[in-house]
Amino acid sequence: MCGIVGYVGPKKASEVIIKGLKRLEYRGYDSAGIATINGSLSVKKGKGKVAKLESLLSSGVEGGIGIGHTRWATHGEPNDINSHPHLSDDGKIAVVHNGIIENYNTLKKNLSDRGYSFYSETDTEVVAKLIESFLEEKPEDLKRAVRLSLAQINGTYGLAIVHEDFPDQIMVARKGSPLLLGIGEGEMLIASDASAVAEYTDKVVYLDDGELAIIRKDGYEVHSSQDEALTKEVHELAMSLDEIEKGGFPHFMLKEIFEQPKAISDCLRGRINPAKGTITLGGIESVLDQLANARRIIIAACGTSWHSGLVGEYLFESLAELPVEVEYASEFRYRAPLIGEGDVMIVISQSGETADTLAALREAKQKGALVLGVVNVVGSSIARETDAGVYIHAGPEIGVASTKAFTAQVTVLTLMAIKLAQHRGTIEDKKAAELIRELDQIPGKIEHVLKNASGIEHISNLFTYAPNFLYLGRSYGFPVALEGALKLKEISYIHAEGYPAAEMKHGPIALIDDMMPVVVIAATDHTNDKMVSNIEEVKARKGRIIAITVEGNKEVENLAEFVTEVPETIDELTPLLTVIPLQLLSYYIAVNRGCNVDQPRNLAKSVTVE
Ligand code: G6P
Repeated sequence: MCGIVGYVGPKKASEVIIKGLKRLEYRGYDSAGIATINGSLSVKKGKGKVAKLESLLSSGVEGGIGIGHTRWATHGEPNDINSHPHLSDDGKIAVVHNGIIENYNTLKKNLSDRGYSFYSETDTEVVAKLIESFLEEKPEDLKRAVRLSLAQINGTYGLAIVHEDFPDQIMVARKGSPLLLGIGEGEMLIASDASAVAEYTDKVVYLDDGELAIIRKDGYEVHSSQDEALTKEVHELAMSLDEIEKGGFPHFMLKEIFEQPKAISDCLRGRINPAKGTITLGGIESVLDQLANARRIIIAACGTSWHSGLVGEYLFESLAELPVEVEYASEFRYRAPLIGEGDVMIVISQSGETADTLAALREAKQKGALVLGVVNVVGSSIARETDAGVYIHAGPEIGVASTKAFTAQVTVLTLMAIKLAQHRGTIEDKKAAELIRELDQIPGKIEHVLKNASGIEHISNLFTYAPNFLYLGRSYGFPVALEGALKLKEISYIHAEGYPAAEMKHGPIALIDDMMPVVVIAATDHTNDKMVSNIEEVKARKGRIIAITVEGNKEVENLAEFVTEVPETIDELTPLLTVIPLQLLSYYIAVNRGCNVDQPRNLAKSVTVE
């Protein structure tokens, strides 16, 4: 959720931090703030985006050390006072925080009773006061004060702390919220996300839960919660600046929609051999037997990743003949789930940091299940905590509404399902080879769909002010209907619902009249007749039908008021094509409505609180 960045070195810290915050703004953007030390501690913060904070700093802030924050509010409305950094009573300690301090009310009461005063509604402010209280006992030992404070905190945190009397160091601590150290030449950075440090270094150290680190311009130290010094692995960051910039597109979302052919090619590279009809997935090779003999597979995820999980369910069941359940990660954990040895959990997450997904993974692992990850961000918490997994290699996704991660996740799940089916002997060689050859064609077919973006823009212009949308699909079209509706809700704030086309008759049909746009995803062969009947039912009630169908499906085309065609493909692969027009539809509608596409209200790219 919130973004954190910190810098110590020869550069002007405020400039590095503002740049970093802009890169992290997709994680939260209701307020922003910065604390720097130049002799004394100075803080600038306020409600609004990073650009507004930047204007507050126009007079220039000196100093080669500082921390910054871009917020997604959990406790206390977004306003100037609740913005981070938060300060100790003496104004010498500044703290920025990502996460939730669950026992902050108790801590606040204790500290208030001891004479500390509070100015904000946030949970974070207690951290600054708590550190101050321990520092009063031993003013020369900041590390001790931070460590003792952390021991009193329940909940989750990524914390960065600076103290005016310790002007050469930034202290950071992690429990449940990501943090990494960026190692530069004569400079060091800290950040909640690698994109904020990529410009300065490609060497990073990922902190693990319970660890506390101190950075100075010429080095760093990492300690365990027991205060033992740790030697951490230094990772090489493979992230180019092009990947985290808009590259001529007006929005990251549009850039990422158009990047899908490349994202899928990257995802397939080295993994398929269309000539031989084989698949190599190094990340799960060692657990393939266990996976193939699984009692059942449980897929846990949130948001768009949950939708790709649904596609995964259809794929695994039909190709590998394995029973699959798809769970909202948040519900799984609090339901006394029956899972144990012999079961396999697959967690799907773009960011690899979603708190609920991480919690589900831990629950499954603790109960003895094998846990696999389908993750985009290399080195993320989920990637590191799973037993094995397959990266989707979609490259950084910055638009809050997920697009290329969805298609890359579905691509990986398709690869896994085919591989598993081959291993279990549930697929004929001919069918597997056909699927693999067709997968190889998918990037080109997506290019073809993208060429018709202007046609979809035209449809979007006609429906920009519709108050509601219904999305209907069957089989592989159903998860796509859900995803299409989610995209529209997220960025245009239009109420939209996705439904299995037949289930429409059990309620949503009552909503259909001549004002209701109904998007039908009708691209799978094996459900075509039934889908045609459902479209007839919508038409009979004068719904405005926008059909996504395969080239040459005259039956559907004759019924629909508007049609977008996708190239023909095998039923199992249709989600990779049919979702593209829906992403574009929501994008153009949101732009027409003047919405902030990349930073929709109230949302965050990475939900690191439960
Ligand atoms: C947030 C994002 C969605 C994303 C979901 C799950 O809601 O806005 O785009 O699908 O989290 O995130 P994950 O990183 O776990 O895929």
